[in-house]
Amino acid sequence: MKINPFLIKGYISPEYFCDREEETGKIISAIRNGRDITLISFRRMGKTGLIYHVFYQKEMKSDYNLIYCDIYKATNLSEMTKIFGNAVFNQLEKTSDRILNKLKKFFAGLSPSVSINPITMQTDIDFRIESKEEAERTIQQIFSMIEKSNKPTVLVFDEFQQIEKFPEKNVEAILRTHIQPLNNLHLIYSGSSKHLLAAMFSDKGRPFYQSSQMLELGVIDSESYIRFMKDKFASGNIEISTAGASKILELSRSHTYYVQYLCNRLFENGFEKISEDVIMDKLITILQENEAYYYGFRNLLTEQQFSLLKAIAKEGGVTQPSAQEFINKHKLGTTSTINSAIKSLLNKELIYRDNDTYKVYDVFFSLWLKMFI
Ligand SMILES: Nc1ncnc2c1ncn2[C@@H]1O[C@H](COP(=O)(O)OP(=O)(O)OP(=O)(O)O)[C@@H](O)[C@H]1O
Ligand SMILES: [Mg+2]
Repeated sequence: MKINPFLIKGYISPEYFCDREEETGKIISAIRNGRDITLISFRRMGKTGLIYHVFYQKEMKSDYNLIYCDIYKATNLSEMTKIFGNAVFNQLEKTSDRILNKLKKFFAGLSPSVSINPITMQTDIDFRIESKEEAERTIQQIFSMIEKSNKPTVLVFDEFQQIEKFPEKNVEAILRTHIQPLNNLHLIYSGSSKHLLAAMFSDKGRPFYQSSQMLELGVIDSESYIRFMKDKFASGNIEISTAGASKILELSRSHTYYVQYLCNRLFENGFEKISEDVIMDKLITILQENEAYYYGFRNLLTEQQFSLLKAIAKEGGVTQPSAQEFINKHKLGTTSTINSAIKSLLNKELIYRDNDTYKVYDVFFSLWLKMFI
């Protein structure tokens, strides 16, 4: 069966992955030279995809144990330890390493219930970790066995900023204590909250201070993306002009997920030729499909927050939201209320700040506000 070549989740192979050659090279080189990496980008820019792309490379598979932990759902240290344990366990199933097999036995001892997740087909182990001490002991045991493996290990903590929200104190110190002494362990910390992660790694007093190299992931180079689009559409016998592909990048601000989504939907229709009109029609269909969801935000926000969000969308981005001209033009009230509305929208991740400019985070929501409200 032929699949839609524009993936909107997950990673399959380099065939469906556009560019990121420089970033892939940087990460591999950092690992090879013993430097840990902190990967930061806005949401849906492609961090997780890039990590899987690095893991896909032959030299990575052959030379390292590769462990990927997404701790997004963890709300405390015990939950994080379970996710960590599961990730290690699933990686170990693929290994013939004698030491690591011992670790497997260790997990077997901890786990009263082992099940196969029907969706991911991965093994889910539900072991009992009831206290912070138990979690810490488990973490320590996992690390000490990783250390004894005959291959070095690359360990990814995706959505690492989550640990900031754990109720336990000094989680950073606990992790750092176990990670620091291991020479054959390489870390990739990844996340979308730039200020949280940057503070964790650049504040002098904190355990992870200057312990890793920062890598900020921006948009994919336009030329590469245009080539990728033309190539993938052509694989379905669909033609798109350079101007058409540029239009897609412009509408979606080159933000990876939105480019992929728009292309995915355009590919689905099996047009022979994608004109700019076809692109606009498809975009409007998508915006209308999402309308109920977008209207929902109206109820969640105060009138002023919603008006401000709308004004930012209409302008396509705003540098000085408290400037009188902007306030008057959009009838937004007073400077002080604007400042608190900005804070609130930032906290809710409805807007973000990119190079001093505030923008609506969700590209399609932004277009909907601009075009329909
Ligand atoms: N280089 C790429 N080429 C093609 N598609 C990509 C590329 N990078 C990411 N994608 C796709 O873009 C979407 C978003 O990517 P991904 O999930 O990796 O972003 P993320 O930064 O990890 O997002 P989040 O912050 O929400 O976790 C996914 O559908 C993914 O398949
Ligand atoms: Mg991700």
